[in-house]
This record gives sequence, structure tokens and C-alpha cells, in this order.
Amino acid sequence: MRKELIEGEDYYLSDKGFRIFTEKYLLNRGHCCMSGCKHCPYGFSKLIDQIKKKTKPRTMTFQEEILQGIPAELPSKALYDATINHAPKRKEILSAEEKTLALRNALRYFEPQHHETLIPEFKEELEKYGRIYMYRFRPKYRMYARDINEYPGKSLQAKAIQMMIQNNLDYAVAQHPHELITYGGNGAVFSNWAQYLLTMKYLGEMTDEQTLVMYSGHPMGLFPSHKNAPRVVVTNGMMIPNYSKPDDWEKFNALGVTQYGQMTAGSYMYIGPQGIVHGTTITVLNGFRKIGKEPKGNLFVTSGLGGMSGAQPKAGTIAGCITVCAEVNPKITKIRHSQGWIHEVIEDLDLLVDRVKKAQANKEIVSIGYLGNVVDVWEKFDQENVTIDLGSDQTSLHNPWAGGYYPAGISFEESNQMMADQPELFKEKVQETLRRHAIAINKHTAKGTYFFDYGNAFLLEASRAGADVMSENPTLGREFKYPSYVQDIMGPMCFDYGFGPFRWVCASNNPEDLQKTDAIACEVLEEMIKTSPVEIQQQMKDNIQWIRGAQENKLVVGSQARILYADAEGRTNIAKAFNDAIAAGKIGPVVLGRDHHDVSGTDSPYRETSNIYDGSRFTADMAIHNVIGDSFRGATWVSIHNGGGVGWGEVINGGFGMLLDGTLEAEQRLKSMLFWDVNNGISRRSWARNEGAVFAIKRAMEAEPLLKVTLPNLVDDNLLN
Ligand SMILES: NC(=O)c1ccc[n+]([C@@H]2O[C@H](COP(=O)([O-])OP(=O)(O)OC[C@H]3O[C@@H](n4cnc5c(N)ncnc54)[C@H](O)[C@@H]3O)[C@@H](O)[C@H]2O)c1
Repeated sequence: MRKELIEGEDYYLSDKGFRIFTEKYLLNRGHCCMSGCKHCPYGFSKLIDQIKKKTKPRTMTFQEEILQGIPAELPSKALYDATINHAPKRKEILSAEEKTLALRNALRYFEPQHHETLIPEFKEELEKYGRIYMYRFRPKYRMYARDINEYPGKSLQAKAIQMMIQNNLDYAVAQHPHELITYGGNGAVFSNWAQYLLTMKYLGEMTDEQTLVMYSGHPMGLFPSHKNAPRVVVTNGMMIPNYSKPDDWEKFNALGVTQYGQMTAGSYMYIGPQGIVHGTTITVLNGFRKIGKEPKGNLFVTSGLGGMSGAQPKAGTIAGCITVCAEVNPKITKIRHSQGWIHEVIEDLDLLVDRVKKAQANKEIVSIGYLGNVVDVWEKFDQENVTIDLGSDQTSLHNPWAGGYYPAGISFEESNQMMADQPELFKEKVQETLRRHAIAINKHTAKGTYFFDYGNAFLLEASRAGADVMSENPTLGREFKYPSYVQDIMGPMCFDYGFGPFRWVCASNNPEDLQKTDAIACEVLEEMIKTSPVEIQQQMKDNIQWIRGAQENKLVVGSQARILYADAEGRTNIAKAFNDAIAAGKIGPVVLGRDHHDVSGTDSPYRETSNIYDGSRFTADMAIHNVIGDSFRGATWVSIHNGGGVGWGEVINGGFGMLLDGTLEAEQRLKSMLFWDVNNGISRRSWARNEGAVFAIKRAMEAEPLLKVTLPNLVDDNLLN
């Protein structure tokens, strides 16, 4: 190689005639001889790589991004992505002074040097959307549940929580991902992106000697605790009771000081619509059993294809009936159709009638999404004498004035406009529609339809609207014409015996792990049913059938999760078998949890506790005891919420998450906590004189000598009367 420097140029000539540039030259120009040779014999490709590394700013790894929290430098302003499903504009509720307070509150997350830039932007968000979401701070990485090992941190438990948070915000899972809403229109994981960034950072740096304290989406901080304490304690929407009306949520949420956590949104335990498919399948199956009909060839009419309600047609198909589910939102209808949750979409009422009559004649198993208002379906089917066997509704009536329930006769777009600009008129239209809705349902039930309230506050809101839904002979707890699904089905058949929506997530995010856990759970239940008492044989059979078909039904959206209704014994046995399999290296870690809609987690007089008839359904001691009890018996995280399902101020509900890592400590925790987490509710249901619960708690006392529960004495009615 010749080494002389050619004058005026920063390169040498090699003996083969290649020009060899100096590093300075390359750094200045960013390339070598420009001949495009990728395999330079003098190693230039390597040099070029080094130069690229030196000259190009290095992009942060996923872990580094999490650990930086709120970035020191402002990220570029985010564009509003119209292809994503967004939360409707919230109603104008703050005074001018309160708007300034909302801005001041939002700005406390950021260094003062950024305030000047952020003030107009946040102001615009508040004016345009009714909330400050801080869109600019939305992370650029893909949002989904990764393998637990990909998260940064010193605590495996905290990594599990990071994974669960990301799952709740996954675009495939969340209803309004950019507004941090997982389901139910207002079920928030956080109120803004600064809270998300800070929380993930805290989780990424905390140890097992600390607990993260979450105040309604806001991470208050890390506090010293101990390794047997929960890693995270969540409260959502805890209000002074007198400030717990729907407009209080609007106001205090807009101020950025509280949020509506729904049930599994703000507690990081949502697993997509699968979470409710199983419960809905049980409800539909038992609904048909109740009226003595086979599902095949018979019709179930309902509405809502949203976060939870979207499970209905799938459940109808698994149960084996014809389902008609009305939905006003075209985007959501399209998503559910593309996901295969509905087989067909029909937009014309006459076509719908013809299609349903054909399906009834041919005894088809089919689910039809009707793009339009559900009230029109009920009315049309009455006019055309279409027999409805089962009827319900799952619009979001827990949130009637902000997009949960759309009035008939007004387009979807017009409704969205009206609820923001003319909220009083919108409210009138909603109530008018509810009255029409009830009239149409009453006509069908007079012809034999079995109608039930599906835990969406339908009967409650309809009654408030003056609709004809009140019973002619009301008794305490049976004030409405129609039962809630908990009163007739879920309460006496499942909750009173401890059966509830137990769930798990494979933290490896590996579908093979899910298959293995399904097989383990099935094996456990098949063993248990051999000696189960007759009172719970049907529940056990339904659950075994469910878990056998779970893979085939392709229910996974987001994380590798499974739901399975099980009682205390079933949950404990399955969890123990998982922990053993983790210890044996057969599967990776598993996160246990449940829906709040369960035996003990939720006090909700018109839903979960609607089959409590001793007057205590308006108390919330059970839910509060549950979360306290779970927290000192080994939960990895616990949560307690005001609102969820039936509305702000109408329910108190809580849940937990627990990481199984194959250790002996995990085994001790699962045994201690799951026993309490179910038997707390059974004891309360038993004290309310619920027959199934008295049976179940006596059985639990036989199995566990340390359990001593006060049992009720029954009084002779003749003495009282
Ligand atoms: N029974 C249960 O086990 C259970 C469980 C969870 C939630 N819920 C309740 O069910 C309700 C629905 O939950 P979600 O998560 O699906 O809410 P969601 O807001 O995601 O879905 C409701 C859907 O109803 C549609 N809708 C509203 N009004 C309509 C109308 N008049 N006609 C046709 N479609 C209409 C909306 O466009 C929306 O897509 C909520 O009140 C929720 O609290 C019940």
C-alpha cells in the first residue's frame, strides 16, 4: 500500500489503485471511495459503521426510554391520528378559573422551561377535547405486552405490572388508546401521558422493598415497604361520597385530579373482550336453560360491540344461538367484524328481518351485527313478529350523557356533536329513547321474551328517565319489572358458590405457555369434578367445556391470557399447579388476577350484589375488606375503585394481580390470598341468607379449620307475619 498523501486530497492510493480516505475526510463526507463497494478489502465498511455511530444520534432502547420517564427535552408535537378510535369530546364543565387550575395542574409534571411551549398546546386540548391528554408525550415505541424479561427493572413483580399496563394500552386492546381509555368509554388507565411515563419509570427502577402509590392515575411516588407488601397500591375515583355524581367525575377528571378506572382498566387487569366472553357464555347458556329452550335456532337480541359488549355475539355463537347485536359506531362494527367476533354486518332493517327469519328456519348458529340503533331493532322485530327468545342490552348506560348511549333518530356524528355542544338537549334525547326502548321490550316480553339487565345500569337509567320498567308488585331488591343477570343467573348459580372470573396471563407472552396452562387447568378441573358435590357439578362441567374449547375459539387479543370461572378451591389448585410448572421450568412466570365483577371484589346494588336481599346491598364493606385483606395476604398489586360497570358513585370494586414465579413464597401467597379473596364474599352472601353461599361457606369451614364464620339463623315467616 502506498502511503503518500496526494496533495489537496485527504486520501492515499493503494497499490491496487483504490483510494483510501483518511478518517477525517470520511467523517466530513460520511462515505468512502463512492464506488459503492460493500466489501472493501481495506476494512472501510467497518470504518463507515463506526463513523455512522459517531455521527448519527443513537436511538434509545426500549428500556432506556422507559427509564428516562418524562423526557428532559420536549418530544416533537404529535399529530392527531384520525385512523384511531378516539374518545368523544367531553362536555364543557369547567369555569374560566377552573380551566386555569386544570392547566396549572397539568404543568406540574414538567420543568418550568417548557411551560411557555406547553401552555397553548394544553389549552387547545382542553378546549377541543375537554381534557388535557398531553398527546405530545405519547411514546413512539409500539404499545403491547412484551415478554416480561424485556422490561427494565430490579423487581420481577414490577416488570409484570409494566407488562400489564402496556397490554391495557395496546391498540388492539384499548378502546381509545391515545386517550389512555381501555374500555367502557371512560375506563382510564391514566388521565394523561405524563402519568404513564412517570409510572413506568418508577416501576422500572423500584425494588422489592418499595411500594408505588397510585392516586387515580397519578403516581404519588415510591415508598419504603417490604418484600411481602404489594408492589403497587391503586385507588381510582375515591371521592367524598357527596361528590360522587356523574358531573363530579366530569369536573374533577377535567381538573386532572381523579379518574374513572372502570374495573380492570385502572387496575391493569384487562385482557380484551375474552374477559367477558366466558361470563357471557355462561349467562346466555343459563338464560336458555332458565326458559327451557335449546340455544339452537333461537334468538338473542342485544346491543353494543364495544370493549365488553363486543363479547356478546361471540358468546352467543359458543352457546349455539342466533345473535343480533346492534351497534351505532361504524368503526367499532368494522373492527369486530374483521376480528371475527360477528359473522355478518347488516345495515338495513328489512334485510335484517329476512336474514333472522331465515336463520331461525334453518336453525343456524350465526351472529349478526346491525349497524344502527338498537331501539329500531326492538321496534322493527315487534312490527314484523320476529320472536326474540332472550333479550338484553349492553350499551354503556353507566355513562349515559357522554357517549355511552346513543339516541334513536339522530346520526352517530350528530349525537357526538350534540353531547358536547348541547348537553341538556342530548340528555333529553337519551331519556326519550330509553322510554321508547322500554316500550318495545315490554311488547316483546308480553309475547314471551326473557329479558335481563346486563349490568350496564339499563334498568336504573331507564327508570330515571321515567320509562315503564318498574315492577307492579315491587319487593325489596326486586323493584324492576326485569331481573338483573346476577339476580337470576350469575348470583345464585356462580357467585354464591364462589365461582367467578379467575384469569391468568403468561408473562413470557408465548402462546405455547398459554396452551400448556390451559392443559394444566383442564387437568386440575377434571380431577376435581370426580369428587365435587352435586350442587356445583353443572358449573364444573361448563368450565371444563370452556377450557377445552378455549384454544379453538381464538379468544386472545393482546397478552397471552385466559379466563376461567372457578371457585376458591379450583383457583387455588390451578394456581398451585402453575407455580409447580414454573418451578419445573415447563412454563415462564404467570400473572394471576380476576375481573372485579366477582364474588367478593364488588359491592354494586344493581349488579354484583343485586342478589343480596338483607338490605346490605347498599353497603361497601365487602369490597373494602377484600382489598385490605388481599394486600396483606400476598397480592403483587391491589386496587380499589369508585365507579365501574354501572357508573360513578354506584359501585365500589376492587381487584388484585399476583405474580407466580415458581418459588415457595409464591405458593404460600397464592394459598393465603386466594382463599380469602373468594371466601370473604361467600361469607357475606351467606350472612345475607343466600342458600348456595351457606352451603359453600360450611364446606370451606370443613376444609379449613382456621376459618370460623358467623352463620345466619333463619326465622319462621309465620312468626313474622
Ligand atoms: N355484564 C357484565 O358482565 C359487564 C361487564 C363489563 C361491563 N359491563 C357494562 O356493559 C356496558 C358496555 O361495556 P363496554 O365496555 O362494551 O362499553 P363500550 O362503551 O365500549 O360499548 C358500548 C357500545 O354501545 C354502543 N351503543 C350505545 N348506544 C347504542 C344504541 N342506542 N344502539 C346501538 N349501539 C349503541 C356504543 O357505540 C358502544 O360501542 C357498560 O355499561 C359496562 O359497564 C357489563
